[in-house]
Amino acid sequence: MKLGKTLISAEDIEAKLAEMGAAITRDYQGQDLLLVGVLKGAFIVMADLARHIDLPVEFDFMAVSSYGAATKTSGVVRILKDLDQEIAGRNVLIVEDIIDSGLTLNYLLKSLKVRRPASLEIASLLVKKGLQRTPIEVKYTGFEIGPEFVIGYGLDFAGKYRNLPYIAVMEEE
Ligand code: IMP
Ligand code: MG
Repeated sequence: MKLGKTLISAEDIEAKLAEMGAAITRDYQGQDLLLVGVLKGAFIVMADLARHIDLPVEFDFMAVSSYGAATKTSGVVRILKDLDQEIAGRNVLIVEDIIDSGLTLNYLLKSLKVRRPASLEIASLLVKKGLQRTPIEVKYTGFEIGPEFVIGYGLDFAGKYRNLPYIAVMEEE
């Protein structure tokens, strides 16, 4: 596998995150909001999206196991790091880099719902279209993309490429 063509430019990502941030600012006006980033992939989206949200938000992070070095989902989700704080009665917005099968998020939603947040919504920069095995309602979607494996802007292939400022496709050698 090697770095392929650019799918979404840094400029397009920036413009989309500004739109998403404006929508979130509007929707949560006058309310408490806790952003929950899903590590490691969402760390860049979280940092850039949050700077487009004009509200006194708080931050927390969870880490879950994903593919490892493979490019297909295993369906096995493990919480490697849980939230630092209680979320009962709070408005929680999960920030994700990408939703593929939806298995990771489905598991996360279930484990967070039982903690009784006031609300629980999702913002994801990318959603792989038509591939979701689990139907998940994503309140804020950046881009819908095809089934290709993508890297950059927090997304990795075998731990690398997360620092690319744009999103690119991985290609067969
Ligand atoms: P899901 O459980 O299949 O929705 O997969 C979610 C997780 O898998 C994401 O948070 C990513 O870490 C990883 N993932 C899914 N698709 C891609 C991709 O195209 N590139 C890199 N990572 C991906
Ligand atoms: Mg990953």
